[in-house]
Amino acid sequence: MTRPRERRRTVFLCRECGHESPRWLGFCPAPSCRSPLPLVETETAPVGVSRPGWSAAEAEPVLELSQLRPEDHPRIQLPSQELNRVLGGGLVPGSVVLLAGEPGVGKSTLLLQIAHFMASEGRSVLYISGEESPQQIKLRSERLGIVGHRVFLLSETDVDIIVQRLDECRPSLAIVDSIQTLYSREVPSGPGSVVQVREAGLRLMRWAKSRHVPVLVAGHVTKDGSLAGPRVLEHMVDVVTYLESQDYSSYRILRNSKNRFGSTTEVGVFEMTGQGLEEVVDPSQALLSQRYDQAVGTVLLPVLEGSRPLLLEVQALTSPTQLPVPRRVANGVDHNRLLMLTAVAGRRAGLELSGQDVIVNVAGGFRISEPAADLAVVLALGSSLHNVATDPKVVAFGEVGLSGELRTVPQAQRRLVEEARLGLSRCILPETALDGLSPPPGMELIPVRTLRQALRAGLGAARSPSVDQTVWDAPE
Ligand code: TYD
Ligand code: MG
Repeated sequence: MTRPRERRRTVFLCRECGHESPRWLGFCPAPSCRSPLPLVETETAPVGVSRPGWSAAEAEPVLELSQLRPEDHPRIQLPSQELNRVLGGGLVPGSVVLLAGEPGVGKSTLLLQIAHFMASEGRSVLYISGEESPQQIKLRSERLGIVGHRVFLLSETDVDIIVQRLDECRPSLAIVDSIQTLYSREVPSGPGSVVQVREAGLRLMRWAKSRHVPVLVAGHVTKDGSLAGPRVLEHMVDVVTYLESQDYSSYRILRNSKNRFGSTTEVGVFEMTGQGLEEVVDPSQALLSQRYDQAVGTVLLPVLEGSRPLLLEVQALTSPTQLPVPRRVANGVDHNRLLMLTAVAGRRAGLELSGQDVIVNVAGGFRISEPAADLAVVLALGSSLHNVATDPKVVAFGEVGLSGELRTVPQAQRRLVEEARLGLSRCILPETALDGLSPPPGMELIPVRTLRQALRAGLGAARSPSVDQTVWDAPE
């Protein structure tokens, strides 16, 4: 019998993006990377050595597209609407889902809860932890009220042994917590390194695909919020989803950055409670119930997160600055967008913010990336600056242009329906959005063309003695 040829190759690797170059080039040559870290010399895995979890005899046959039926591999439905929606309609057998998040955000908690969901439907789960001992996982499961029938635990970090155990146990779902702790003896570098993470990802992908079993993998993120490890890992797996939270908020938002089986715009909303993560099926209602009606500097707006409209609250606080350059703090909205809006509001609508520190916040720890939020941000700023509360039944949406004009936004009708569902009765919106719009019963539409008109409509009604009336009445 001929032994497979062992051939190792030396390459130079970028520690951030995983780019390989055969020669020493100093720094990463990939134009999209520009990492400040020098390349590291490393040996690749031996070529030609058989790897556990994969062999040529077991390789997939060639299939004709027309012969395949979608119902042959139905998605596994989880008893959580939020999870199913984010996954694109359920868990696809053979897929690898990477769940990324900061330490403490709740990745292990969510994974254990998913293990419990699957096990309670009669499927077996192998939960592999390289970070926690079975006893620690037991403690968490007690907190979550999970007994743990059909949930099997393995404390292991050697990926070769993991793949071997997976083959012995043949679970219906495999969970790996976390990818950064895994290592392969065939790769001569430490756990968590670019080569190791890539190798472990590759092995798990092969196993999942060849056995048609879904694998959920936890992954750590770096300080700037991106996934730690090589970029290739993100290309490799089928779904990359981030579990996010704003500081001190109990809400957790599950957001996809990649999904081969569904949309990346869908989000799932959860709340971290004493008994783990609970799904928030109606986040608009949950946020609205915490609203203080007479608050100054708050405005409601409907945003679209995937297929779902959400009613969020934008809050703004202005206060005279003590600094030579006033501060602009944006939580949940884009910082550059806020700078643009303060400039436009000052020049085009008479909102004098140049001597003011400005803080803008989206309640509940949500993040808005739509320009549709522009109008609500400016109204909240105006409300705070003039110290007048907006009408609690009013909502506003619209994009603001540089000349202070209001521009239409997509799916205005769906936004209006969500507002009406939650009992709101007045909506300030761009005049250009009126085309083809049929307001739900009881909803008064206030179409405006410019930011100045919008401020007059939103704040002018509540004229306050402290407000210089010329602000509202000045010509366009
Ligand atoms: P964990 O799932 O360990 O986070 P990760 O794996 O992302 O590092 O969650 C840790 C945090 O969640 C910890 O601060 C405690 C909190 N927590 C709850 O509030 N309720 C619970 O039921 C559980 C299990 C954890
Ligand atoms: Mg963890």
